[in-house]
Amino acid sequence: MNKSIVLIETDFILTTYNISKCTEGSVSWKTPSNIALVKYWGKQEPQIPENTSISFTLDACFTVTTLEYKKRDTERSRSGQNAEKISTSLNHQSDKSNFDIYFEGEKKDDFKPKIELFFKRIEHYVPFLREFDFVITSKNSFPHSSGIASSASGMSALALCIMSLEKELDPTISDAYFNQKSSFLARLGSGSACRSIEGELIVWGNHNEIKGSSDLFGVKFPHTIHKNFKNYHDTILLVDEGEKQVSSTVGHQLMSNHPFAKQRFIQANDNISKISKALQHGDLKEFTTIVESEALSLHAMMMTSNPYFILMRPNTLKIIHKIWDFRANTGSNICFTLDAGANVHVLFPEKEKLEINNFIINELIQFCQENHYICDRIGKGAEQLLIKN
Ligand code: DP6
Repeated sequence: MNKSIVLIETDFILTTYNISKCTEGSVSWKTPSNIALVKYWGKQEPQIPENTSISFTLDACFTVTTLEYKKRDTERSRSGQNAEKISTSLNHQSDKSNFDIYFEGEKKDDFKPKIELFFKRIEHYVPFLREFDFVITSKNSFPHSSGIASSASGMSALALCIMSLEKELDPTISDAYFNQKSSFLARLGSGSACRSIEGELIVWGNHNEIKGSSDLFGVKFPHTIHKNFKNYHDTILLVDEGEKQVSSTVGHQLMSNHPFAKQRFIQANDNISKISKALQHGDLKEFTTIVESEALSLHAMMMTSNPYFILMRPNTLKIIHKIWDFRANTGSNICFTLDAGANVHVLFPEKEKLEINNFIINELIQFCQENHYICDRIGKGAEQLLIKN
């Protein structure tokens, strides 16, 4: 049994804070994406996962977000002129939101509903949220249309910015609490975002064998990771850079009446136990078996839901077969995983990088859209930036 103290939902409600401490400013965070090894697919309100998941935090795929904040009342009391300026610059009086969002230099009103929903879900925990007006400016290191989910890095970056504001208002909060509450808030924006705060391996969802694990936030994998998994590589092959036909949110919903759901959640939780041992013992063969089985199980759930759908493309399967052939012929520890899309994440250990990079360039990138791919690796988590972007 897990006997560590795990924070509960009420621990994340900010009750006392000094609003006069901060009137305006800005904060920036650079936050990575992550790739799940054991997948989260199926959830209950409010963003509670049906099974435990574990992910590698990435490094090269990240979002940079700046949150500019101005306290509403202070501005009004300071001068009527200033208040005018804010309401004109924010231009959100008609939709009643207290923020504007810019993505890669362009104002994005179509991003507002998702962020407004996020604000609604978190305002109970960060009651100062409606006392400010915000301008959110965000950009990704990877192309927006690459098919790489940006919600994990995007929502975690915004959650961290909001927590930096909380820290201004209450400087007594510890680093551990800061990270846990950031993950807690990020989860309410997008489930997988709660695994993008720290590195290198993050577990989300309560599991008897993972000390400190919780359905409410991600925690660092609590055991020492074998050196075989240090600097692990993830080369992302961009097979289809278009918009997904079915969103993850819809995919999660389809798990609630799915004929195989119960067994799938059991399988995922069993895979957490197995991968935990493989990661500690450096068992690359077992790691490969679990990770590939998880990727295919995720897509099997999509293919057997009602309505059913397929996100893999012919080139996704060609790449998988090439990887299997290469492994059979060379004894390599290369393996693949998939997200909710057609792209293939090729995972491999640092010590095999030369041969595998050659194999990828010579045999796999021909299956990518315009030969596009991204070389990424396991990363250490989010960083606060001191400069304005
Ligand atoms: C297949 O976190 O994008 O990538 O909580 O609805 O925002 P929401 O879903 P999201 O789902 C991610 C699904 C996945 C698997 C995973 O990352 O674990």
